[in-house]
Amino acid sequence: MNVLVLGSGGREHTLAWKIAQSSKCDTLYIAPGNAGTAAVGKNLSIAVSDFAGIAGAIAEHAIRLLVIGPEDPLVNGLRDYLLGQPGLQNLMIIGPDAAGAQLEGSKDFAKAFMQENSIPTAAAKSFTANEIDRAYGYLEEQPTPIVIKADGLAAGKGVIIAPSKDEARKAVKDMLLNNKFAEAGRKILIEQYLDGIELSVFVLTDGKHYKVLPEAKDYKRIGEQDTGLNTGGMGAVSPVPFATEKFLQKVEEKVIRPTLTGLNKRGIDYIGFLFIGLMNVAGEPYVIEYNVRMGDPETQVVIPRLQGDFLETLIAAASGKLNTINLTVTPATATTVVGVAGGYPEQYARGNPVTGLAEPMEALVFHAGTKAAENKVVTNGGRVLAATGMGNSLPEALNKSYAALKKINWQDMYYRRDIGQDLLNPGE
Ligand code: AMP
Ligand code: GLY
Repeated sequence: MNVLVLGSGGREHTLAWKIAQSSKCDTLYIAPGNAGTAAVGKNLSIAVSDFAGIAGAIAEHAIRLLVIGPEDPLVNGLRDYLLGQPGLQNLMIIGPDAAGAQLEGSKDFAKAFMQENSIPTAAAKSFTANEIDRAYGYLEEQPTPIVIKADGLAAGKGVIIAPSKDEARKAVKDMLLNNKFAEAGRKILIEQYLDGIELSVFVLTDGKHYKVLPEAKDYKRIGEQDTGLNTGGMGAVSPVPFATEKFLQKVEEKVIRPTLTGLNKRGIDYIGFLFIGLMNVAGEPYVIEYNVRMGDPETQVVIPRLQGDFLETLIAAASGKLNTINLTVTPATATTVVGVAGGYPEQYARGNPVTGLAEPMEALVFHAGTKAAENKVVTNGGRVLAATGMGNSLPEALNKSYAALKKINWQDMYYRRDIGQDLLNPGE
């Protein structure tokens, strides 16, 4: 069958790379894709926000299965839109409808959902601009540090961890009165600070059955030792050594099952990936956030660990038959390290030639911000590519990621040298 993957990041290159290996895949399309996806399928020049263009491409290319990579089209109702188009009612789609996507699109919705279903999460209250005095009053009663969150999508930037009451009041004012984060910050959550270690678990569900995918840890800050500005993610590791079987069992019992049951109770037929950001607080899982898609760069370590025909798994998920699939995961460790354009996550240049990609290397190179231009590959985004190494140990996997990045270059290339180091020497 013909398949379309929507998006243009490292996540989408990884999904496309895996789907292309399936004997069930005839033509694989990626929209809009990057220079890496062009090597495993055909790129279509359609933006992820161009719903009519996407519907047209699906009809024109006889697409049977669509995988929606990023959150924006999900939150904006792409699934609902496509299934409402004449001739597309039977399209298989990986990605929830707008109702399900509220788990990521509204932190207030997600918090109420968790409270309603007794899913462990930080205590929180939500406030709108005309409730600012009540928000200040609530702050006074809370200990610091305290977390202030914009309700809506803010490209991963809408969370402020305020060490003091003064900083907390400023964050509340910036979001509610000064329009920081625009529409996304019209409503805020004031949330208890959780002290623990973070990791993410990923679930694929068909609405009735589910498969737990490998867990991962990502590295969000630009600087080594987790310093500097937040980014989309600078590297990832899977498995996560501190995610013991006992802990993961708790996650399944206290988080995954109540989440899926809660969605059913709300009448939401959730089909797609669910990414659960967790804090491990003294061995107990607390949900920090839901995302209604795979993570980037977590996908670059999760998907390479899956064995077997991934397209077959996606078809089963899209047709309510995930229970017929036996998902196997390699025990090998996967690491990915993201190379970025100098200056990211602030100002950076595009259009710099990427060299070394044809060198022999023992890592998988997944493109993100790249594009093909006159027989060469040039940078076209902040996060340029990620090198995934696989090995029998974390050091072996990391060596392969870093050896590959040493062979690749572009002007002002930067990557963190410390991905996974905290897991090698815990406590140091
Ligand atoms: P989010 O956008 O919800 O993923 O939040 C961004 C980051 O803020 C998370 O990855 C955590 O590192 C941190 N964070 C969010 N909520 C909390 C919390 N309640 N306690 C401590 N850290 C948090
Ligand atoms: N790496 C974090 C995310 O994809 O949201």
